[in-house]
Amino acid sequence: MQFKYWKRWMPGSQVCFMGILLLGLVLPGPVWSKHEKGHDEVSGICPQPRKTVTAPEEYLKLRNPLEATPQNILAGKTLFHVDAKPSACRVCHGISGDGLGIIFHRVKPKPRNFTCVYTMEELPDGQLFWVIKNGSPGTAMPSFNYLDGDQVWQLILYLRSFSTKK
Ligand code: HEC
Repeated sequence: MQFKYWKRWMPGSQVCFMGILLLGLVLPGPVWSKHEKGHDEVSGICPQPRKTVTAPEEYLKLRNPLEATPQNILAGKTLFHVDAKPSACRVCHGISGDGLGIIFHRVKPKPRNFTCVYTMEELPDGQLFWVIKNGSPGTAMPSFNYLDGDQVWQLILYLRSFSTKK
C-alpha cells in the first residue's frame, strides 16, 4: 500500500535516479573526512613531518661513495622490494616509495615519503645512512644493521631515484 503511493509520486526511472543521487552524496563522506585528520594520520603527503631525530655530526658529513650505476641502483632496488630483513622496505614505504606500503595504516608516525622532493632535499646522505643502520626509535623504522656499508649506499641511491626521476 505504502509503496503504491510512493510509486505514484515518483515512478520508475526517477526512483532509480534519486537512489544514485543519494548514494553519490553519502559515499564520498569517508573520503572527505580523511582530509580532516592531522598530518600525522596521513601518509604520502609532502612536505612530510618527521619524527626521526638528527644523526650524529660525523654521519651528516658522509657522502655516498658509490656511483649511481644501473648495477648499484638495481642492487638497492632488490633490497628495497624483496631482500631486506626483518622486512622489505616496500612493505612500509610502498612500491613507488611514496610511504603508502601495505601496512602504512598500522604504523604511526607514517613511513617516509621518498617521492617528496622538499623533505628529501633536507636529508643528507649521512642521515639516511645512519637511520637505515640504526633504525628510528619511537617509530616503526627497524634497524638494518646487518647490511654492509655498500648495501646501505646502494639502497640510498635507489631511495634518491624516487625524488629525482621527474
Ligand atoms: C615496518 C615499517 C618500515 C620498514 C620495513 C622500513 N621503514 Fe623506513 N621508516 C619507517 C617509518 C615509520 C619511518 C619514520 C618516519 C618519521 O620519521 O616520521 C621511516 C623512516 C625512514 C627513513 C627516513 C629517515 C629520516 O631521517 O627522515 C629512511 C631513509 C628509511 N626509513 C629507509 C628505509 C629503508 C631503506 C628500509 C628497508 C631497508 C626501510 N626504511 C624499512 C617505517 C619502515
